[in-house]
Amino acid sequence: MAERDTTNYYELFGGAPFFADLVSQFYARVATNEILRPMYPESDMAGAARRLQMFLEQYWGGPTTYQEERGHPRLRMRHAGFKIGPAAKNAWLECMEAAVNGTDIDDVSKAKLWTYLSGAAEHLLNSFED
Ligand code: HEM
Repeated sequence: MAERDTTNYYELFGGAPFFADLVSQFYARVATNEILRPMYPESDMAGAARRLQMFLEQYWGGPTTYQEERGHPRLRMRHAGFKIGPAAKNAWLECMEAAVNGTDIDDVSKAKLWTYLSGAAEHLLNSFED
């Protein structure tokens, strides 16, 4: 039987400072992206950044603050109100790829993170049109 992977990736990546760095680099790009910027709440970018950071920290084995504040993630349901076609998905991935590459984790960690994020974005595609 395969051994269970008990690595705590939250700690391995660098804990809260790592996720804060990743998310702030991501949102700096969203803020200047013409497809994404109009989709995000004008007056609550800090809130959006906080929600994404809490979610990612929880997903990778860190504090469960996301669940406590927001309940079950249900990401497909929470994204249903936004039209996510190929262009929006690609824009999101471009911003996130640059953010991941801008962090100082090693290449194996980057690949691990990227495999998850790209799969999750694919899963959230909810339109075939832009
Ligand atoms: C595929 C392209 C994507 C687009 C266009 C997109 C867009 C958005 C938008 C506009 C919001 C609302 C911002 C807010 O007020 O919180 C949001 C929320 C969120 N997104 Fe995405 N997103 C995408 C992919 C992803 C992926 C791949 C993840 C996770 C790996 C993710 C995680 C989240 C989370 C956790 C929230 C906050 C949910 C909540 O608690 O309300 N998103 N997204």
